[in-house]
Amino acid sequence: MSTDSLRFLEEVKPRIVMFCGKGGVGKTTCASTTAVHFALKGYRTLLISTDPAPSLSDMLELDVRGEVTQVPSVENLEAVELDYDRVVELWKERFGDEVYELISSFLPVEEDIIEYVAGAPGIDEEFALSYVYDLYISEKYDIIIWDTAPAGGTLSLLKLQDTFYTHLGEAAKLYVKVRSALSALTEGRTQRDPLKIIKEWEHLAQVVLEMLKDESTQACLVTIPEALGVNQTQRVANDLEKFGLHVGGVIINHVLTEEAANTGFYMSRREMQLKYIEEIERTYSDAMPVVKLPLQSFEVKGVEALRKVEELLFR
Ligand SMILES: Nc1ncnc2c1ncn2[C@@H]1O[C@H](COP(=O)(O)OP(=O)(O)OP(=O)(O)O)[C@@H](O)[C@H]1O
Ligand SMILES: [Mg+2]
Repeated sequence: MSTDSLRFLEEVKPRIVMFCGKGGVGKTTCASTTAVHFALKGYRTLLISTDPAPSLSDMLELDVRGEVTQVPSVENLEAVELDYDRVVELWKERFGDEVYELISSFLPVEEDIIEYVAGAPGIDEEFALSYVYDLYISEKYDIIIWDTAPAGGTLSLLKLQDTFYTHLGEAAKLYVKVRSALSALTEGRTQRDPLKIIKEWEHLAQVVLEMLKDESTQACLVTIPEALGVNQTQRVANDLEKFGLHVGGVIINHVLTEEAANTGFYMSRREMQLKYIEEIERTYSDAMPVVKLPLQSFEVKGVEALRKVEELLFR
């Protein structure tokens, strides 16, 4: 098996492949290419973006915003870009009543409390993860290719889930302590036991974390051979691993080939890159495949272009 190819993914048989890295390095390009690859192999594939500024629709030249959509030119491939306004609507549909029941069990509030909570920071991100989870357990897909938000965004998404889980645990303990006092105050106001609601949320947060930390969820780092790219990749890799995620491979994008280096300009850029390519290979190649993706002369856009890049990533 080549250690300079994404083919290792076929051995690992992941259920989810996340593409992570700094802004603009090629996450969407590599995620789309990988999705096309697995779909062509016959896997029922979903390409999903949780980037609040997504570009899957532009990449596929197809409107996939908000709704899971079949890509007409690639059998087995469906794609969706999360629409965060819709995410909040879905959150309200799913959790709105529970939020109201829970809060009204100890505070005299009206139903507009749901709007207030739905506007709280982090709710949309929180729901983005449970949206991915629902698709993950739907059994509709053999593999989910996940185009994530640039570095910081994805990490805060993961940390938020962890914090949420811990807080719910605390909330449940606290609730048990004040339960009898509260029930005297709120006699008859709630239909369901608030502790049960908290426990259900805690369970949801827990299964989402398990999905992320499962070995069948693989993160692929995407970087460029320049100091900023290398340093940030190191931080992202550390953070992902600290969080318990499996980092399975690194893609060095925008690599200048020798062929492209026959003018002075390209020769100096190639020399500049070589230093970082060596550094990245030194750091990662013992532990995982390191795949070099040359900078292309064409714009990577549309399925045709993705097929050309696929040949390079999966050769
Ligand atoms: N190897 C390549 N050769 C030529 N163009 C490329 C290559 N890789 C990426 N591009 C182009 O670079 C631009 C940025 O790539 P892409 O959108 O995949 O990055 P991204 O990491 O998803 O960015 P963002 O962080 O903004 O989501 C796109 O226009 C893409 O077509
Ligand atoms: Mg992108």
